[in-house]
Amino acid sequence: MTIRAAVQGVGHYLPERVVENEEFSKTLDTSDEWIRSRTGISRRHFAADGQTTSDLATRAAKAALTDAGISVEDIDAIILATSTSDLTFPSTATIVQSNLGMKHGFAYDVQAVCAGFVFALANANAMILSGQAKRILVIGAETFSRILDFTDRATCVLFGDGAGAVVLEAVTGGGTSDDKGILSVDLHSDGTHRDLLYVDGGVSTTGTAGVLKMQGPELFKHAVTKLAETARASLALAGLNDDDLDWIVPHQANVRIIAGTAKKLGVPMDRVILTLADQGNTSAASIPLALSIGKSEGKFKPGDLLLLEAIGGGLAWGSVVLRW
Ligand code: UT7
Repeated sequence: MTIRAAVQGVGHYLPERVVENEEFSKTLDTSDEWIRSRTGISRRHFAADGQTTSDLATRAAKAALTDAGISVEDIDAIILATSTSDLTFPSTATIVQSNLGMKHGFAYDVQAVCAGFVFALANANAMILSGQAKRILVIGAETFSRILDFTDRATCVLFGDGAGAVVLEAVTGGGTSDDKGILSVDLHSDGTHRDLLYVDGGVSTTGTAGVLKMQGPELFKHAVTKLAETARASLALAGLNDDDLDWIVPHQANVRIIAGTAKKLGVPMDRVILTLADQGNTSAASIPLALSIGKSEGKFKPGDLLLLEAIGGGLAWGSVVLRW
């Protein structure tokens, strides 16, 4: 008998305010045509004034608990991935813990930028496999609108706000790749590339939050090669290969990156969950958002093999292979 960590519930929340591409062309030299054709993005959601990352995360968490048919009493821990925390400290996870009325267990944040949810899921998986916890709420939540430079057309049109959450639970399996749950994890980072995507402020440098800076084309090149490499590595760890994949649930940065990776893996685009058009890049929230939307559309069948993959600032990148 083998312990596996399986997704038992998913949920998401998107702020009410929708910002269409055309909004940006009122103040910047850009167009709906450029944004859609270069990125695949048509609109994104922005949090309302006063609406925080923990607010979005709490709503997504409640939806995931409802989907799993459990209450907060049944959860042992909360791991929350974000780069846009409410405060420098305490962690956004502890604020969510309090919002949920949870006084037991433990909660903490993980910061690996756009790959944050993959890292948080890997962390939760390890905790479940080691017996540290039986059920963990894993959340990705962001308010990137708060760190955008709205005079920089090369970055401000790309990102959006949102949150997604999953309930990860210990289940038993036979120790084969037929098991339900997470089958393998592959994580990487390389800080020598940290200037490709960063925020130019912080507690111990400027004392301000700063704004996002990105070398888009350079990052694009890393993304296409590194995502296919990590996908193959995690598939190999699970004793599987490209042909076994039923779905790719990718980080949503650019439809051309997503399509390039899917092509390398031989997965047709109708087997890739795409949420980018309506959400933009929601960083650590994008994968749990895509999982939740994919599930609500009835896409995943029990036994389907899913690949979750992401890359972002750090650089940090990785993938998870799981059976639904
Ligand atoms: O989530 C973390 C991971 N993120 C990524 O992986 C993002 C990776 N990078 C990308 O997705 C793409 O590089 C971008 C979407 C950011 C940019 O697309 P690109 O095709 O690489 O465009 P570019 O930066 O090479 O810019 C092409 C042209 C430039 O004009 P010139 O120099 O050719 O005259 C830009 O100034 O497009 C211009 N441009 C724009 N034009 C209209 C850049 N942004 C805009 C804009 N509207 N918003």
